[in-house]
Amino acid sequence: MARAVQVAVTGAAGQIGYAILPRLASGEVFGPDTKVTLRLLEITPALPALEGVVMELDDCAFPLLEKVVITDDVNVAFDGISWGLFIGSKPRGPGMERGDLIRENGPIFVSQGQALSRAANDVRVAVVGNPANTNCLIAMHNGVKAGVPKERFSSMMRLDQNRAAAQLAQKAGAPVGQVSHMAVWGNHSATQYPDADNARINGRPATDVIGHVSWLQNEFIETVQQRGAAVIAARGHSSAASAANAALDHVRSFEAATPGDDWFSAGVPSDGSYGVEEGLIFSYPLRSDGQGGYSVVEGLELSDFARQKIAATTAELQEEKAVIADLL
Ligand code: NAD
Ligand code: LMR
Repeated sequence: MARAVQVAVTGAAGQIGYAILPRLASGEVFGPDTKVTLRLLEITPALPALEGVVMELDDCAFPLLEKVVITDDVNVAFDGISWGLFIGSKPRGPGMERGDLIRENGPIFVSQGQALSRAANDVRVAVVGNPANTNCLIAMHNGVKAGVPKERFSSMMRLDQNRAAAQLAQKAGAPVGQVSHMAVWGNHSATQYPDADNARINGRPATDVIGHVSWLQNEFIETVQQRGAAVIAARGHSSAASAANAALDHVRSFEAATPGDDWFSAGVPSDGSYGVEEGLIFSYPLRSDGQGGYSVVEGLELSDFARQKIAATTAELQEEKAVIADLL
């Protein structure tokens, strides 16, 4: 018998929504034996545009797409869901940092966290809307009050992981599929630390393959940290196709067992690992057991340089937390 999954997507009429919905409906995430119901949340003025997106989903004739619900009521949107993709929120414009959005976007995640009381028992949440880690913190605090365990909340760092892998592959002249063990630590912001020291290319340390310490410690890190801003400067809009792709990778990584001794990066509630304040939504290298559980990869070697970077991104998350303390 076919399995069925209900997935909520917030901000479904937006850029990322447009890129992600057909791929969720196609079966590429939950597999060819799983029927998908999409529960799409938008603000009221965006519902007509969302109706147009649903027309297009109809016109794709996806055999696995069982039902599409569109609504401006968060309680309807989250009824019975096993995944909530929290995308809906304002993107930054040129010259802004993601953290500048915090007071405008943060309150969205209070009511959405609370409405998770309507979700299925196995619900998991991926927060994409910026600033993603601190919005996830808000959703988690309110979701825990609604009965959802804190381990079910994650923020998307996969775009950063994918960007870092792509940069290393290009520098090494290797196919990107050969880059593994790509950890990105901390916040989805300009303080994040993409970790080349622990990355591998075709099984060998990336540092040996590339052999250019100054590039790895400067240009590589800055390119990844500033990639979102570079896309906005070039396109006039923030990343959408790559963001949607990363969100799907993120869901797949939590759904499936992590292959071999590899890992993936996502923001999760810190358990104090690597000296990070407990409870902050911090991006770590993770392994999934494929049964709904995950663990932080422990025991990785961190240089003094890496520890300084991790301290800086932790401090930024502490500052963001202080700014939204009233929403927790
Ligand atoms: P967009 O402006 O195209 O779409 C956002 C949509 O959210 C709009 O349709 C809007 O009506 C809707 N929305 C606003 N408030 C809402 C609410 N309370 N409930 C439901 N829907 C609501 O923006 P986008 O390009 O799709 O980006 C969405 C968010 O994702 C932004 O905050 C952006 O910065 C962030 N983002 C994060 C990453 C990441 O790596 N974590 C990557 C790309 C974009
Ligand atoms: C990104 O990294 O592309 C997104 O977070 C959008 C942004 O504001 O940079």
